[in-house]
Amino acid sequence: MRKVYIETYGCQMNEYDTEIVKTILKQNNYDLTEQPEEAQILFLNTCSVRENAHQKVYQRINTLKQLRKKEKKRVMGVLGCMAQNLRDELLDEKVGVDLVAGPDSYKKLPAMLESVVQDDARQYALSLSEYETYSDIFPVREEGVNSWIAVMRGCDNFCTFCVVPYTRGRERSRDPLNVVDEVKRLTDQGFKQITLLGQNVNSYQYGTSDFADLINEVSKVDGIERIRFTSPHPKDFPQKLIETVANNPKACRHIHLPLQAGNTRILDMMNRTYTKEDFLHLVDYMKERIPDLALTTDIIVGFPTETESEYQDTLDVIRTVEFDSAFMFKYSERKQTIASRKYPDDVSEEEKTSRITRLVELQRNISLKRNQQHIGKVFSVLIEGKAKKDGQLMGRNDGNKIVVFADTGQKIGEFINIKITTASTNTLIGEVV
Ligand code: SAH
Ligand code: SF4
Ligand code: F3S
Repeated sequence: MRKVYIETYGCQMNEYDTEIVKTILKQNNYDLTEQPEEAQILFLNTCSVRENAHQKVYQRINTLKQLRKKEKKRVMGVLGCMAQNLRDELLDEKVGVDLVAGPDSYKKLPAMLESVVQDDARQYALSLSEYETYSDIFPVREEGVNSWIAVMRGCDNFCTFCVVPYTRGRERSRDPLNVVDEVKRLTDQGFKQITLLGQNVNSYQYGTSDFADLINEVSKVDGIERIRFTSPHPKDFPQKLIETVANNPKACRHIHLPLQAGNTRILDMMNRTYTKEDFLHLVDYMKERIPDLALTTDIIVGFPTETESEYQDTLDVIRTVEFDSAFMFKYSERKQTIASRKYPDDVSEEEKTSRITRLVELQRNISLKRNQQHIGKVFSVLIEGKAKKDGQLMGRNDGNKIVVFADTGQKIGEFINIKITTASTNTLIGEVV
C-alpha cells in the first residue's frame, strides 16, 4: 500500500504544495507514481477559486472511483483549497473520499494514511495555522528551468469575491535566510530562474525585511539570473519595491498587477482598497520608472450590481494601460465569501458572457499590438524546451513572453539572443542572432 498518485489543480501555490506533499511522503517511505492505475493512494490537490474548478474535481473523483472498484483498498484523498472549503460535502459517504486535508495539514498526511488503512476510518485535518510555512521542508524538484518558492502563505485582504483567505488562512512569511538557503539548493541543482510565490506576495514581511529586501537578498545568490514573483496586490507597491524592479538587474521587468475591475464603486464593493485613478497612477509611475515593463492582469466581469456603464470603465482601463495579457473571468459566487453573504449574484449569465466576450476580443487586439511592437527587437531568452511545432524551441524573455525559434541544437536552460521577426497574440517568433 505504498504507491501514491497526485494530481494538481489551481494556482502555482498548489503546484508548490504538491512538491511539499511528495517530499513528506517520500520521507515516510511512500513511492510516487505518474500512473493512477498503479497507485494505492490517489490524491487530488484541489482549487476552489471558481465554480468550474469544483466541477472538474468532482468529475475526476468519479472517474478515479471506477479505478477503485477494481481494488477495494485504494485510498482517495482530497487536499488543498477545496478540502478546506467543502469539508462536510466531501466527507459525505456518497462522494467516496477517505481523507480530506487542508493546505496547512500536510505534515499529518503520513499518520492520516496509516489510520485510514489500519482503522478503516475516514480522516480529516483542516485546522489553519498562523505559523505553518513548511520552511523545514525543501521540496525535491524535478528538472526544469524555473523553480517556484513559496515565501509567504495565506491572505488577509478579504477581497469580497475571493475564497482564498478562508481556504489558506492568515498571512505569514518565511525567514529570508531560509528562503535564500532554498534558492542556493536550487542553483546547485542548475536552476537559473526562480519565482517567488505568495497569495499576496508583496505583503511579505519578516521582522524588518520587506519584499524588496527579499528580492535583493535572493539576487545575491550565485547562479540566479532571473527573479520573478506572483501574485502581488496593487496596494503593496511602495516606491522601494518599484525601484528594486527597476534597478536590480536580476528582477524581471514583468509585473502581474491584478486590476479585477475598472470602476471605483465596484472596486470598493470588492474591497480592493484602490480606485480606478489610484490604479492608473500606479501604472503610470511603474511605466515611467521601469522602461519596457511588461504588465499583465486579472479581471472579473459581472460582479454583483455591475452595470454596463461600470463595465465600460474596465474596458477603459484596459485600453489605457494596454496590458500585455490578461486572465479574464466571469464572476462566480463562492461559499463563505463576503460577497456571497452580502451581494446577490444578480448579473445574468448572458450578460456575463457578453461582457467577457467583448473583453477578451479587446484584450486579444491589444496583446497582438503589444507583441507586434517587439518585431525587430533582440531579447535574451531563457530556453525552456521544445515548442509545439517540430524543429522549434521555446523560451521566455525577461517580460515573460513566449519566444519561439528554430532548434539548431541549443541547450535547454541556456540563454540565447533572439531577434523577433513575427508576432501573434500569444507568441513572439524570431531567429538566433
Ligand atoms: N492572490 C492572487 C490570486 C487570487 S485568485 C491575487 O490576489 O491576485 C486568481 C484570480 O481569480 C483573481 O485575481 C481573480 O481575478 C479571480 N477570482 C477570484 N475569485 C473569483 C470569483 N469568485 N469569481 C471569478 N473570478 C475570481
Ligand atoms: Fe483573494 Fe484578494 Fe487575497 Fe488575492 S488579494 S487571494 S484576490 S482575497
Ligand atoms: Fe485555487 Fe487555492 Fe490557489 S483556491 S487559486 S488553489 S490558493
